[in-house]
Amino acid sequence: MKLNHMLMDNNLTKSEMHSVRKFINKKDIILTQSKKVKEFERNWSKWVGVKYSVFVNSGSSANFLTISLLNILNKNKNKNEIIVPSLTWVSDINSVIMNGFKPVFVDINFSNLSMNIDDVIKKISKKTLAVFITHAQGFNGLNKKLLTILKKKKIHLIEDVCESYGATYNKKKLGSFGLISNFSFYYAHHLTTIEGGMVCTNNKRIYEIAKMLRSHGMLRESGNKQLERKLIKKNNNLSPKFIFLYPTLNFRNNEIGAVIGINQLKSLNKNNLLRTKNFKLYLKLLNGNKYWKNFDLIGSSNYAFPIILKTKSIKKRNYFEEELKKVNIEFRRGNAGGGNQLRQPYIKDIVKNINLKNFKNVEYIHFFGYYIGNYPSLKSEKIIKITNFLNSLDL
Ligand SMILES: Cc1ncc(COP(=O)(O)O)c(C=O)c1O
Repeated sequence: MKLNHMLMDNNLTKSEMHSVRKFINKKDIILTQSKKVKEFERNWSKWVGVKYSVFVNSGSSANFLTISLLNILNKNKNKNEIIVPSLTWVSDINSVIMNGFKPVFVDINFSNLSMNIDDVIKKISKKTLAVFITHAQGFNGLNKKLLTILKKKKIHLIEDVCESYGATYNKKKLGSFGLISNFSFYYAHHLTTIEGGMVCTNNKRIYEIAKMLRSHGMLRESGNKQLERKLIKKNNNLSPKFIFLYPTLNFRNNEIGAVIGINQLKSLNKNNLLRTKNFKLYLKLLNGNKYWKNFDLIGSSNYAFPIILKTKSIKKRNYFEEELKKVNIEFRRGNAGGGNQLRQPYIKDIVKNINLKNFKNVEYIHFFGYYIGNYPSLKSEKIIKITNFLNSLDL
């Protein structure tokens, strides 16, 4: 028996591809970043509930620009630590490192796969500039305790919402709480522009700098005419169109990505409801003696079905993987981003003397956590077959 369950089904509908064809058939169109990008940014800001959005070429670029922005804005160079989760995508950690900050790692919770807030509070120091939370796999990672202490201690909150858009805290969309928030539009995410990402904020100055950082650090990208006039005057021996304010690269997206995004956004709410419905059925049917089921579903907007084995046997885990391969269920071990980032080779020379025993939950997820696909076109009958199969395994 083959179940042939992949991580993602075709995420681009015929009508969305038709809108791209219609767009490129127009006369005299611009394909590089132009009006459609602006339109997508406006629509996206409205959907998230923020004032400004900047469309970039990936979620990782959104992460990188965000931490570069913190670097530019931070005047107190003693504040050089950013608290990060041990379970996240690698670009969250690398943007911290590549911008010269020290990543301070915390453990996670099983219930939402996000940062353990008590551990965050324990690791706040005089050097803490920001907490860079990842809302993992459709769950909300925020709570009142975190928001209160960050406000009290004037520590920035940065949200990575790449895997959780549509999820809410206190009925307000994630991505609208932090000073800056990030989204990815890579193929398997809630919305796709094939490749793409977004940087969101309510702060006008941050918005203007983000636009410059997206495009070679060029002054004319800021959209602030007054600032432009002032700096052109100050730099009167430079060509006004070529004044580069910040060291950065080109992270722009293009009009085709924006046309896809504008059209995908129209079905995002409907698709998120379908994913949530699928997730609830999946959890209802899954055997709680073999798999962890106590997730915090309040405000969640599922991204993929998480599987956390209850067995602590590596032999049984290997058997589990072999059985999934036999029926052709595509899976990823380690949940978001492959498990514990502290175990990855890139971190070895950067963070030393880490005691993995202090990271019990992420360690468990690293060895016994998985995810498999959940997407809007997934039918109940297939979810029944998948859960029957999972429940039948000798775990
Ligand atoms: C939490 C998180 N952050 C960042 C990214 C990076 O996004 P991209 O693949 O678009 O660079 C991902 C990608 O899946 C992610 O899951």
